[in-house]
Amino acid sequence: MENYKKIQIFDTTLRDGEQSPGASIAPERKIVIARQLAKLGIDVIEPGFAVSSAGEFAAVQQISRELQQVEIAGFARAVKGDIDAAVQATADAARRRLHLFISSSDIHLSHQLRKSREEVIRIARDMVAYGKQFVDEIEFSAMDSTRSGRDFVIQLVEAVIEEGATIINLPDTLGYAMPNEIIELFQAVRKEARGGDKVRYSAHCHNDLGMAVANSLAAIQGGATQIEVTVNGIGERAGNCSLEELVMAIETRRDYLKAETNVQIDQIYETSRIVSRTMNFPIAYNKPIVGRNAFQHESGIHQDGLLKNRNTYEIMDPEAMGISRSMIVLGKHSGSHAIKHRLADFGIEPTEEQFKAIYTRFKEVADGQKIVTDNELIRIAGDMTRTQ
Ligand code: KIV
Ligand code: ZN
Repeated sequence: MENYKKIQIFDTTLRDGEQSPGASIAPERKIVIARQLAKLGIDVIEPGFAVSSAGEFAAVQQISRELQQVEIAGFARAVKGDIDAAVQATADAARRRLHLFISSSDIHLSHQLRKSREEVIRIARDMVAYGKQFVDEIEFSAMDSTRSGRDFVIQLVEAVIEEGATIINLPDTLGYAMPNEIIELFQAVRKEARGGDKVRYSAHCHNDLGMAVANSLAAIQGGATQIEVTVNGIGERAGNCSLEELVMAIETRRDYLKAETNVQIDQIYETSRIVSRTMNFPIAYNKPIVGRNAFQHESGIHQDGLLKNRNTYEIMDPEAMGISRSMIVLGKHSGSHAIKHRLADFGIEPTEEQFKAIYTRFKEVADGQKIVTDNELIRIAGDMTRTQ
């Protein structure tokens, strides 16, 4: 058996995900999601931004205390007050890290931070050294790194590695990069930054151009061993890399990617539902993996193929992810084979004559509406067999 690369899944649903417009969660409810993330087999949970409010601090503390099986990330800007809050809130975690960030792009430096590159390097150095007094594991994020000068990212990374950073995260903060650029960025930093071969690498991709999952997979090709995700892909603007899409891409194409995760895939659907419900954030019907239509096949040709062999039109087994809904939706495109099959599921075995009448009535009903539910089909079968 070949040795596949283990990809650590870092979940930031409760920090970056909560920055989603419309997604809200009371700090005391965060534990509900965190417990499910632990059950799902997530390696690292980022439970919130401790310095931002008393409620956030308490939520990070409660999750750190209760979920001793998971590593907890304390999130902080490169500012002493943030670091103090993150260190204190995560103090009781069995395993923890400090996650520090500062921007590296000239756009952010000149318009937002109003600092020179030299000043940013000095702050990053000082704050990593400050955090290192309290915590061994330090993840450093060079925010907006995909829109930053490559040389500067490398200088910044060298500086924080020298001060003790152990994980380097290169975020695509605006979802701007293309997969090849991500591969090149990770390869260059790993190879060219002094000490770059002694640390681990992480990717944190946003989805503004719909590339977050593709870019995260590219980062793995470039050498990242940790990917930052959110459940249902929630997050700022168009969201973050979706946990379920990334994990199922790795699971489905593991032999191609030569990678695997610790995620318990039978918990994927339940996790998605809990997050959607608890954070009041609906899931699009056509969302891969967890959307209502993700495993629904309406066309007669597809239904016919599926009934003969599921591999004809399915690349994943929905039941393995805890999705037990019927695999076929009946509608105006459905063929007689699928309808007969569904009737048989309910023990209804009409004669040929009766079936003709059921089929004709089914098509009339289906023409006026998109989907014919099981109850409607049973009713049609009842009506038609009574009159035959
Ligand atoms: O999108 C981003 O750059 C972030 C970092 C702060 C990790 O969320
Ligand atoms: Zn982000």
